[in-house]
Amino acid sequence: MSKLTLSQAKEILAKHTTEEHLFHHAAAVSAAMGAMAEAYGEDKEHWEAIGWLHDVDYEKFPTEHCHHVRELLAGEGVDDEDISAIISHGYGITTNEHKPVTNLEKSLFAVDELTGIVQAYALMRPEKMDGMAVKSLKKKYKDKKFAAKCNREIINRGVENLGMELGTVMEHCIKGMQEHSEEIGL
Ligand SMILES: [Fe+2]
Repeated sequence: MSKLTLSQAKEILAKHTTEEHLFHHAAAVSAAMGAMAEAYGEDKEHWEAIGWLHDVDYEKFPTEHCHHVRELLAGEGVDDEDISAIISHGYGITTNEHKPVTNLEKSLFAVDELTGIVQAYALMRPEKMDGMAVKSLKKKYKDKKFAAKCNREIINRGVENLGMELGTVMEHCIKGMQEHSEEIGL
């Protein structure tokens, strides 16, 4: 077994997911994770792969999210470490199995919901991702009625656990998502 690759992640997700918006979300989280990996000087493609695959059990098991990751991935030759990392993004939300501990895990938890806010904001801008500023994104973030489904409490928890400023995490999300805007559908 070896570290998950991006092409492997794409192949596996496609076996369990059909809805376009879920692929857009996978692409957004993958892009944000790539930028986070760069910030930490870590393995970009590996972090992108984890981001791409993180919601692998969501479409089939929406009410038991993160509880079916192991059964879907064990037969695919995915590392146990990678499986745990994916499960950890639901910590305290849908599962208590694995707490986010590594920078990869903490980053995944922090960017998962945050990319939803970036996406929602991009969709209302004629320029989409182009020229998006952290300052204006923060304003949207503070407006609780904006993209209300993106849980601020969870994002704040993730960012705090990461020990990074919210604005810095936003900057990385924007940068990564700008590089992959087409895949994200923006
Ligand atoms: Fe997600």
